Amino acid sequence: MLSTLQSVEWTVKSRARARHMIDEFRAEFGGEPELWTRAPGRVDLMGSHTDYNLGFVLTLPISKDTWIAARRREDGIVRLRSMNLDAVDEFRLDQIDRVADSKWRNYVRGVPAVLQQEGLALKGCDAIIHSSVPIESGLSSSAALECALATMFEELGGWHLLPQRKAQFGQKAEHEFAGVNCGILDQYSACLGLNGCALLLDCRNLSTRTVHLAGNIHVVICNTMSRRRLSGGEYAQRRSECEQGAAILGVPALRDLSPHHLASRRNELSDTVARRCEFIVAESARVELLAQALSSNDRDAISSLCAASFTGAKDLYEIVSPAMETMMDCMLAAPGVLGARQAGAGFGGCMVALVDSAHTEAFRASVIDSYSRATQTTPEVWPVTGARGAEAFHL
Ligand code: GLA
Repeated sequence: MLSTLQSVEWTVKSRARARHMIDEFRAEFGGEPELWTRAPGRVDLMGSHTDYNLGFVLTLPISKDTWIAARRREDGIVRLRSMNLDAVDEFRLDQIDRVADSKWRNYVRGVPAVLQQEGLALKGCDAIIHSSVPIESGLSSSAALECALATMFEELGGWHLLPQRKAQFGQKAEHEFAGVNCGILDQYSACLGLNGCALLLDCRNLSTRTVHLAGNIHVVICNTMSRRRLSGGEYAQRRSECEQGAAILGVPALRDLSPHHLASRRNELSDTVARRCEFIVAESARVELLAQALSSNDRDAISSLCAASFTGAKDLYEIVSPAMETMMDCMLAAPGVLGARQAGAGFGGCMVALVDSAHTEAFRASVIDSYSRATQTTPEVWPVTGARGAEAFHL
C-alpha cells in the first residue's frame, strides 16, 4: 500500500529527474515502476563524532536525497540498478550474502538482510536508484540509500516501521554489511527529517527536538571535492580512543563526563586519548548552545561556537585535512558568513557555513572563486534547506 505522502517539491528539475528514472527503468526492466521512495542526506550543524559517544548532535536533513523507482516481483528476486554508479546487483531474498568487491552492493544487500533478521516478510522487486547526495562527501549518501531502500521494502511488504526503528535497522545494515561502525546520526537524520527544520538529537535516549533557524540564516554546504572514506581506519580509531577514555575514567560513554571531571583525571589518560575526550565533551556541550543561537539569531555566539568546533576538530580530534583548512579560510573570508565548520566525519568532503540570507549568492560566488584559485579545483557550493525524512511518494 502506498502512503499518500506528497512532499516532493515538483520543480522542473524534479520532474526531469523522475522522467529520467522512468526511462532507465523501461530500458533496464521493461514496463513501468509502480512505487517511489526517497530519503535525504544530512549535514551536521554541530556535534562531530558525538553520536557514538551518546552525546548530542544538531543535524539538518537536506534537500539533496536518494530516490528509488520500483516494481514488485513475486519470485523473491531483487534486481537493482544505481544510475549514479552505473552498477547493478541481483540477489535472492532467501540467500543474501556479503560480497568482497563492492561497497554499494553490500549497502543494498545489508538492508533486506537486516529487515529479514528482524522477522519482516519481504517481496522481491526491480528498482532504479538515483541520488543527488554526492557520494563519500560527508553528507551521508549511504544512510539516504539505506533508508530509501528500507522504505521501499516497507511499501512492497505492506507493513510499517516507526522511523526510529527504520533508522536503527539502517545502522545495523551499515555495521554488519558495510563494515562501518557508525553512530546513529546519519540514519536518524534520513528517517526523522521535517521540512524546514533542524533536529537536535540526543544520541543516548534517541529523542529529537525540532529547531527552527532564524529566518535570515541560510545553511550553505561547501564541498572541498576531496573524497573521504570511513572504512579507512581513522573513524574506527577515533571511536576506539573515545571508548578507551570512557573505560579508564569509569563512565559508560563520554556523554557522562563533565569538563570538570575530565580535567581532574586528565593525567590518567594518554595525551591523544585526553585530547579526543576533551573535544567530544566540549563539542557535545556546544550543540544546545548553537541551537539556541541559531533560533535567536545570536550572531556572536554562532561565530564563536563554530570557530571553537573547527579548532577542536583540527587540534584535538585531528580530523581536518589541508583541503578543509583552505576551505575554512575561503568560507570565513566570504561576504555574509556568520560561522563555518567541518561536517560529517571530517578527513575531507563537505563543510558547512551559516550565512546571512541577504548575502547567500555573494558568499557562494566568493567561495567558488577563492577556493578555485587556491586549489585549482572548483568546489560545489549549495544552499540547502531542511527536508522530510524517508517516505514513499506518488508522481
Ligand atoms: C559519520 C558517521 C556518523 C557520525 C559522523 C561524525 O557520518 O556515519 O555516525 O559519527 O561520521 O559525526
